[in-house]
Amino acid sequence: MSKALDGVRILDFTHVQSGPTCTQLLAWFGADVIKVERAGEGDATRGQLRDIPDVDSLYFTMLNHNKRSITLDTKSAKGKEVLVTLIKHCDVLVENFAPGALDRMGFTWERIQEINPRMVVASVKGFGPGPYEDCKVYENVAQCAGGAASTTGFDDGPPLVTGAQIGDSGTGVHLALGIVAALYQRNSTGRGQRVLAAMQDAVLNLCRVKLRDQQRLDRTGVMTEYPQYPDTEFGKAVPRAGNASGGGQPGWILKCKGWETDPNAYIYFITQAPVWGAICKVIGEEGWITDPKYAKPAARLTHLKEIFARIEQWTMTKTKFEAMEILNEFDIPCGPILSMKEIAEEPSLRATGTVVEVDHPTRGKYLSVGNPIKMSDSKTEVTRSPLLGEHTEEVLRQLGYADDAIATLRAERVI
Ligand code: COA
Repeated sequence: MSKALDGVRILDFTHVQSGPTCTQLLAWFGADVIKVERAGEGDATRGQLRDIPDVDSLYFTMLNHNKRSITLDTKSAKGKEVLVTLIKHCDVLVENFAPGALDRMGFTWERIQEINPRMVVASVKGFGPGPYEDCKVYENVAQCAGGAASTTGFDDGPPLVTGAQIGDSGTGVHLALGIVAALYQRNSTGRGQRVLAAMQDAVLNLCRVKLRDQQRLDRTGVMTEYPQYPDTEFGKAVPRAGNASGGGQPGWILKCKGWETDPNAYIYFITQAPVWGAICKVIGEEGWITDPKYAKPAARLTHLKEIFARIEQWTMTKTKFEAMEILNEFDIPCGPILSMKEIAEEPSLRATGTVVEVDHPTRGKYLSVGNPIKMSDSKTEVTRSPLLGEHTEEVLRQLGYADDAIATLRAERVI
């Protein structure tokens, strides 16, 4: 079967997480992704958080599937020559170096355009133009600067970062969309263009509803679905909302049977208005269906804490899976808090290829997250990440280098 991005060639200068997330998605859609790394060390994540000595870490292997790896010293004169050939050969250059690194290497946007005017040059940076544009940025810096941390956590605690890597992987996903759109536009213009996804911007985009709430707060001074309401004064900025739902249907995380010993024996419970009657029946509070204190959504907002406390009395009598089954019979929206262990063992996620087992020559079998985007005419087959420089000679031959030229580059430590 063909793939959506068959024939697209990516010069992958990415490292760590944000850029590699992007190029891995493109590889899963069928692009030929050639990852350029420094000889000896390669992407720093190959050696970070290792669980097996001298073997590529899970950090690296889980972000670099379906790619080819070449080693190249792009600061040496001969390395730059090879890079020029690669730029001519490829459609897209993706990079997430610290600001200015590509320019310092001698490959400014203008220079790349001279070499290949059709090339799309896509970058992840921590910040867009402005006071912080020269700063190096990692995940949690972006979560803090993009508004996520100030709005995550509980009111009486400090700002919190989230386990979802919205700064790195979130930005990589944004960048991938920009690249595909730029390739589409190239069909009519014949030109490449620059694509920039700043991590602060991507996090803010994912926190869009919190900027919505800031403006609601500015106008009305109160947000009735927040846990601060009605007991606590609102300040000037959107407060941390604990586990409150970000939308118009109040929700909260409730204890389930076994919570005393299992840190994940909880369920997310949404008191969606259309099923309020069913909720009251399930928890044995039929009187609440007509009681003016609870009957209408607006009236319930001032009693949410007691409502959730009463529902929790019921959820604590059930495991999270029993509660899920009963509630779903009545179309009551809810979700179990799943641990990573439970997710890794979940058969339905294996069946869809969202969780895959991959074999690696030095690591053996490991679990990874497959392509979360499923397409009917472009199926993803997850193949292992490349060893450092595994495809250097293969790629150079494809670029027209003869064996003796490759041997010279190797002897001179350019590759
Ligand atoms: N050959 C020769 N030199 C190479 C090379 C190669 N194949 N690949 C990279 N280098 C050089 C770069 O040119 C750069 O050199 P310079 O500083 O002299 O210009 C150097 O290696 C290091 O690159 P840099 O990106 O600065 O790495 P770092 O480890 O110091 O910083 C980050 C890492 C992630 C903080 C930084 O890259 C960054 O802020 N990136 C943008 C935001 C981002 O993506 N952050 C999230 C990462 S998940």
